[in-house]
Amino acid sequence: MTDPRYACPAALRGMTMADPAINECPYDYYARMHAEAPVHFDEKMGLWLVTRHADIVEASHKWEVFSSRIDMRRDVSTIDPTEADQLFLREGWLVADVLSQVDPPRHTTFRRMVERLFTGPVVKRMHDYLDQHVLELMAPFERRGHADFLAEFALLLPLDVIADQLGLPRTDGALLRRWSDAFIASFDPTIDAARKLELCRIILEFQRYFVAWRTRKAELPGDDLLSMLVATRREDGQPLSTEEYLALCAQLMVAGSETTRNHLLSMMLLLCDDPALQQRLRADPAQVPRFVEESLRLESPVQGLYRRTTREVELGGLRIPAGAIVMVMFGAANRDPAMFPESARLDLGRANANRHMAFGYGIHGCIGRTLATAELGIATRRLLERLGPIRLSAAHPRPRHAFHFNMRALESLHIEFDVLPESAA
Ligand code: HEM
Repeated sequence: MTDPRYACPAALRGMTMADPAINECPYDYYARMHAEAPVHFDEKMGLWLVTRHADIVEASHKWEVFSSRIDMRRDVSTIDPTEADQLFLREGWLVADVLSQVDPPRHTTFRRMVERLFTGPVVKRMHDYLDQHVLELMAPFERRGHADFLAEFALLLPLDVIADQLGLPRTDGALLRRWSDAFIASFDPTIDAARKLELCRIILEFQRYFVAWRTRKAELPGDDLLSMLVATRREDGQPLSTEEYLALCAQLMVAGSETTRNHLLSMMLLLCDDPALQQRLRADPAQVPRFVEESLRLESPVQGLYRRTTREVELGGLRIPAGAIVMVMFGAANRDPAMFPESARLDLGRANANRHMAFGYGIHGCIGRTLATAELGIATRRLLERLGPIRLSAAHPRPRHAFHFNMRALESLHIEFDVLPESAA
């Protein structure tokens, strides 16, 4: 039974992230939480929700209290992980905790290995390559007047980029997608035990593939991330264990593809819904980076992530017990009116637009931020330049969001557009 001190306020009782209608559009719910209970316990989800920008800043600074050391399988899922662990022990490797699932000092060790991967200068050198690839992906549909924007563009761009960066063949993109989706699905607390095992079997495929590539990269190193991970040494001079290597590969693969793909879809939907915005950005492409930041604030691909309290702690005027599972809701913080006045409005002139939390905040802040914003900006610029007014396809129903407890992901997106005369494109 819930401790009455921690009960959900009456005004919000019955409302939950697990409700499909709230999943489709959570923003009224966020507004009510901001107004009535910015920090509270969601009884249905068994989670503490933190929705205010200032409270997430505070929680992120107190990382030793709001720990990232969460065993998703034991702390969040209701399924006993023993069977999955035995499967991994028998046929593959146990999943190690690295980077996003650990606190300092272990976090610092892994963070140092990867934080130099996508710095500003590195990503700047990638601009021409990204631009070229965007043009290649658009070529098959830009004169057709319509496109399956998910299958023909949003899915491929981030997958190809992460495959290139890892030093893997682009032709294996479908495999990377299959494994990425399996990791994301395996974090879903609502799946049953049979599905969980099915997903573990898919993750075993991922393990065998990446272990085989480790051997190849050791024999024939290249200028790529996998070769770097194979060559890297921990502070004690030892190479990464197989479990650590696999966990880092998984985090780079999942983080590098899913979020960018989902946000390409969200940005395109915002553009389709607002022809005047398209016109404005076409007329003044220098505004595109502002659009990217505002769209990330409004439709954050990662709506929230888990933390676990290591002791009782006060946040937003409430006491959260030790051992509580907390969701820091970046998507809600990005709509916090105390931080972003008229927070539901897309405002290209917003002075503090870049203070959004779509890439997290604090020690775990996204290492791929510069790469992701470059991909999103270059793609938007080229799409607006080479496609005439873009709208949702009249032949398809309005796209809906996949049911997901913490990701914002459209299930599909079919578009139509005017084909521009050859000379204008
Ligand atoms: C629109 C695209 C992206 C979004 C919205 C996004 C969002 C996030 C968020 C919210 C976090 C914080 C995690 C936390 O607080 O626990 C994070 C961390 C991370 N991101 Fe991204 N990300 C994106 C793209 C990328 C890309 C392209 C890469 C790499 C190629 C990447 C790699 C990572 C890694 C490795 C971490 C873990 C950092 C750590 O724990 O120290 N992300 N990302």
